Amino acid sequence: MTVRICVINGKGGCGKTTTSTHLAAAFAVSGLNTLLVDLDRHKGASRWHKVRPKSAATVRLAQSKAEFGDIPKDVQRVVIDCPASLRTPQIREIVAESDLLVVPLLPSIFDEHATKLFLKRVMAIKKVRKGQKDILVVHNRYRARSRASQDLDAYLENLGHRPHAYISDRAIYPQLAGQGLSVFDATTKPLQALQEEWMPLIEEIEAIG
Ligand SMILES: Nc1ncnc2c1ncn2[C@@H]1O[C@H](COP(=O)(O)OP(=O)(O)OP(=O)(O)O)[C@@H](O)[C@H]1O
Ligand SMILES: [Mg+2]
Repeated sequence: MTVRICVINGKGGCGKTTTSTHLAAAFAVSGLNTLLVDLDRHKGASRWHKVRPKSAATVRLAQSKAEFGDIPKDVQRVVIDCPASLRTPQIREIVAESDLLVVPLLPSIFDEHATKLFLKRVMAIKKVRKGQKDILVVHNRYRARSRASQDLDAYLENLGHRPHAYISDRAIYPQLAGQGLSVFDATTKPLQALQEEWMPLIEEIEAIG
């Protein structure tokens, strides 16, 4: 069965590509046939894919909506990395072709308004509103005990959402991105420990899919 996961948020820089590449690598490492779809014209996910070592678990890549519209039957997981600043019709179109939505958020007062507007736009889509398409929120760049992280959780609760994963703010993420890797490809114990932070999200996706 193919499960299509769209990683989306109207806000730039919140971790869409980091989340997309990590989900794709996690699925691939677990043996699932995985397609990463890069819908962003800046092509961050494609650059990650290009430098991914041959020895790492294989992730397939599609770079256009046309390719993704015609998903090969043997693909089990599709992860769609969306650009920021999508217009409502584009959001509707992508959501229609996805089974569930993953929304990364940053603990920043500057992101709150954009988050609220974005979630409002998504919740206006009938299938999302009726609960037929789940929204899984990722609290990215989490810092335990930081006021901003606590505020984000309180803010989300007010909007009727809760984070499904807390991903720490670590310098290793940009480093891994530049090597086409993820914490799921790591062989060292400290990096392997970071996999745990992604597991609640992955388990939820697997439960829904
Ligand atoms: N948890 C994290 N800890 C540290 N750095 C992070 C973390 N998540 C993302 N980053 C870094 O933040 C920057 C933005 O992340 P990313 O490119 O994933 O965001 P994006 O939402 O895809 O951005 P855009 O809207 O430009 O496509 C990148 O340099 C990335 O490596
Ligand atoms: Mg991106």
